[in-house]
Amino acid sequence: MTVGIIGSGTMGSGIAQVAATAGSRVLVYDTKVEALERSRSKLEKILNRLIEKGRIDEGKKNEIQGNISYVNSLSDLKECGLVIEAIVENLEIKQAVFTELESYLAASAIIASNTSSLSIASIAAALQKPERCVGIHFFNPAPLMRLVEVIPAIQTSPEVLQSAVETIGSWGKSVAVAKDTPGFIVNRVARPFYGEALRIYDEGIADFATIDHAMKALGGFRMGPFELMDFIGNDVNYTVTETVFTAFYFDPRYKPSFTQKRMSEAGYLGRKSGRGYYDYAEGASKPSPTEDKTLTNTIFERILVMLINEAADALFMNIASAEDIDNAMTKGVNYPKGLLSWADEKGIDWCVDRMDALYEHYREDRYRCSPLLRRMREQGEVFFNDQPI
Ligand SMILES: NC(=O)c1ccc[n+]([C@@H]2O[C@H](COP(=O)([O-])OP(=O)(O)OC[C@H]3O[C@@H](n4cnc5c(N)ncnc54)[C@H](O)[C@@H]3O)[C@@H](O)[C@H]2O)c1
Repeated sequence: MTVGIIGSGTMGSGIAQVAATAGSRVLVYDTKVEALERSRSKLEKILNRLIEKGRIDEGKKNEIQGNISYVNSLSDLKECGLVIEAIVENLEIKQAVFTELESYLAASAIIASNTSSLSIASIAAALQKPERCVGIHFFNPAPLMRLVEVIPAIQTSPEVLQSAVETIGSWGKSVAVAKDTPGFIVNRVARPFYGEALRIYDEGIADFATIDHAMKALGGFRMGPFELMDFIGNDVNYTVTETVFTAFYFDPRYKPSFTQKRMSEAGYLGRKSGRGYYDYAEGASKPSPTEDKTLTNTIFERILVMLINEAADALFMNIASAEDIDNAMTKGVNYPKGLLSWADEKGIDWCVDRMDALYEHYREDRYRCSPLLRRMREQGEVFFNDQPI
């Protein structure tokens, strides 16, 4: 099957590489010729680096490049059985592209969007045959991140969903199927990692370095929340939070932080601007954390239980299966453990007690315990075993 990619920016280029590496013939289209040229030369560099590292040989490089053609017109995608769109995050533009694209494609072709924040239902609505539309959400960088979320819209046919899951699986990716709700799995469940860390800082409980240290040393996370926000970019991370908050009709659980908003407004974007929560200038020294055991444990447990509560609530609201929620967080954002397995390990009692203690203290809806955790405690259940541990 020939795969079409629309948009040859960061994501489109990465997805094209994944499909071509798996042996698919790929046609890449972008409105900007320069973007196509950039994508081609970036791939050349990436493949040369992979050869240097001994991951692929010259033959594989030629095969991958030979599988990709760069085309100048949307109508050139007519032979594609699957087209994945990765253009600008704008509903009207995506809808216009989908409407035109559909006029060129065979009736059986699947049209997918890599959108992070728009609903698949709204994009599918632009099609004559909305049942052929599905969300296929890769993570950046697409060739390295193992997870892909596949999101059926209410219009999507079961055959299209199954075909999308099989194709992405055949490209060597781990698939998590998610309901068409804001943030899907990862961008929803991960919110407290940033939000609760910012809240702890905003309350003056600890500084950035101490919060980061707590999550790395006690939680085994590869990066602390502030290091990660600096890596992602405070502008990008703030926008995702604000988008999720708005899309959830201002649920206080996702409320953005003024601290991050100000960082973004000031241009303290993180690594890419040389300054964020930390200073990335040459020779700048990194502040040392406070290594107080009680303090770091309080921070770690508070952020962890908020993450677990969010994951449990995603399961409660049928966003995805327990397996897919855990899979999504370990493979999409490299968490050291799945959050629901972590809940089993800490004990459902512990989770409920911690959430109730936070709620008792703050009396804010943000800290409400998921009804699923409460019900599981009453019934002595755990997420992944039949018997309580
Ligand atoms: N960057 C990420 O981390 C990330 C992760 C997951 C999903 N996404 C989603 O993927 C999509 C693309 O994001 P990106 O970061 O790759 O963007 P990008 O800006 O790097 O690339 C977008 C490309 O689309 C092209 N384009 C714009 N309008 C077009 C049109 N009408 N027809 C054809 N090409 C057009 C642009 O010229 C550009 O080359 C967005 O929907 C975004 O939400 C991004």
